[in-house]
Amino acid sequence: MAFATRHFVRAASSTAATAAAKKLIVKHVTVIGGGLMGAGIAQVAAASGHTVVLVDQSDEILKKSTKGIEESLKRVTKKKFADKPEAGAEFVEKTLKNITTSTDAVAVVHSTDLVIEAIVENQEIKNELFKRLDKFAPEHTIFASNTSSLQITQLANSTTRQDRFGGLHFFNPVPMMKLVEVIKTPMTSQKTFESLVDFSKAVGKSPVSCKDTPGFIVNRLLVPYMMEAVRLFERGDASKEDIDVAMKLGAGYPMGPFELLDYVGLDTSKYIIDGWHSLEPDNPLFAPSPLLNKLVEEKKLGKKTGEGFYKYK
Ligand code: NAI
Repeated sequence: MAFATRHFVRAASSTAATAAAKKLIVKHVTVIGGGLMGAGIAQVAAASGHTVVLVDQSDEILKKSTKGIEESLKRVTKKKFADKPEAGAEFVEKTLKNITTSTDAVAVVHSTDLVIEAIVENQEIKNELFKRLDKFAPEHTIFASNTSSLQITQLANSTTRQDRFGGLHFFNPVPMMKLVEVIKTPMTSQKTFESLVDFSKAVGKSPVSCKDTPGFIVNRLLVPYMMEAVRLFERGDASKEDIDVAMKLGAGYPMGPFELLDYVGLDTSKYIIDGWHSLEPDNPLFAPSPLLNKLVEEKKLGKKTGEGFYKYK
């Protein structure tokens, strides 16, 4: 009997351990922030069969996000279902049906497997959001941030679920860009990490993993490269046009660094480099640029304002 009980206990606890170690299969996703990135993330999640709630601050913004998603889906399906327009229309309709919207994150978070945050790049606002949602989200729910420049660890520390917290860094435009950087902090559990990797694959992306370090992989290489291009131009060593041509034709890059800076937004680039500079003031790769600062001050922020390093009509 004693043996049987011991055996049963061992069997039961090993079943529990297996269940605990099992990865979470994400079915229901809450995306907070319906801007450029959040709308794209909601789109790819819904298109791959997840049910999605997209949250933003007003119905007006959400209407715009949904319209943007619909237009983007139509563009995607035009190519994907070129000779089957009916199947394309059905796909758009089915995907849109998977998305609902809300202005109240707390009210919708109770039934979600994964919260992906893509709101304004501000540590305090993000911390406040995660702290609030932590109280209302179920135990099993994983939290992820799409931040480009903030520390995932600091965001995780605003919650009590540091082991179920990681980074999911998508790229712009989300429906087109295949990469997701999955960020594991020292506190992220292996199960959470693997669940995030699986989710990234399920939405059709190719995940790579990186520790919680400034810029992760892509921006850690890309931002200093763009800043070096600005410094080269500032010193008068070459024109911005020639630098762009050189990197396109000589390095095979699809855009030159100045074209890319204008596309990303000069304010965003300045924000990132300033943040890193304050973390590592002696690192010359993170030094601010007087020219970039001047353009931002003049509100020449790139394509979105009609002028940055180049002028746009
Ligand atoms: P965005 O400005 O286009 O969208 C942010 C959205 O969040 C807005 O619609 C805003 O109304 C909403 N929002 C702000 N505070 C909120 C709150 N408390 N609750 C609900 N909604 C709120 O910004 P974007 O470009 O989509 O960036 C979002 C995040 O993604 C940032 O953390 C950024 O660093 C990151 N990211 C941006 C990339 C880019 O190329 N724009 C690339 C990869 C990551």
